Amino acid sequence: MKIVLASSNPHKVKEINAIVESENIEFILPPEGFDPEENGTTFEENSLIKAQAAWEVSKTWVLADDSGLCIEALNGAPGIHSARYADSPQERINRVLSEMEGKTNRKAEFKCCMTLLNPAGEVALSYTGICKGSIINSQKGTNGFGYDPIFLLENSSKTMAELSEEEKNKVSHRSVALQRVLAFLRTVTIS
Ligand code: IMP
Repeated sequence: MKIVLASSNPHKVKEINAIVESENIEFILPPEGFDPEENGTTFEENSLIKAQAAWEVSKTWVLADDSGLCIEALNGAPGIHSARYADSPQERINRVLSEMEGKTNRKAEFKCCMTLLNPAGEVALSYTGICKGSIINSQKGTNGFGYDPIFLLENSSKTMAELSEEEKNKVSHRSVALQRVLAFLRTVTIS
């Protein structure tokens, strides 16, 4: 079964296909013309906007995701602005660390909303995976990407950037959401 992944990032398609390797599912890039305007105000809205844009150009099963880091003491920031919170990955980390200076409540969570549309363009599933943790005072670890080096996992002494790819794939917000999507897809018979 082929599913269009509402992303123009071939790396994301590769990563997600590695996670679903044992399933009879292959994610593929959307056909030409996929150019969503991500102007929603929540992960759910942006995920739906991307899913609908990919469905418009493919009219088949589509999966979209939208994710980011939400910090309690910053009223949920950077949230849907995670990818653009500053100009480079390091500057984004620096901005969060400076905004968190002196804050005692360090609670944070990564969220990933996945939206699955069926070939009729209807929402078959919308689910938000969450990975809980906290923001440490200075970055640690070199694996992963984005805010991983400042995100300390709940009940762990490691940051997300200190996990191997395999370890991260067991606990991440993305994999939690993806497991739910896969459980749903196993109940659907499609060619
Ligand atoms: P996207 O929706 O997957 O493109 O993610 C949006 C932004 O959220 C990324 O550019 C990162 O800044 C942040 N983000 C999402 N997932 C992760 C993660 O697993 N680790 C670190 N940062 C993440």
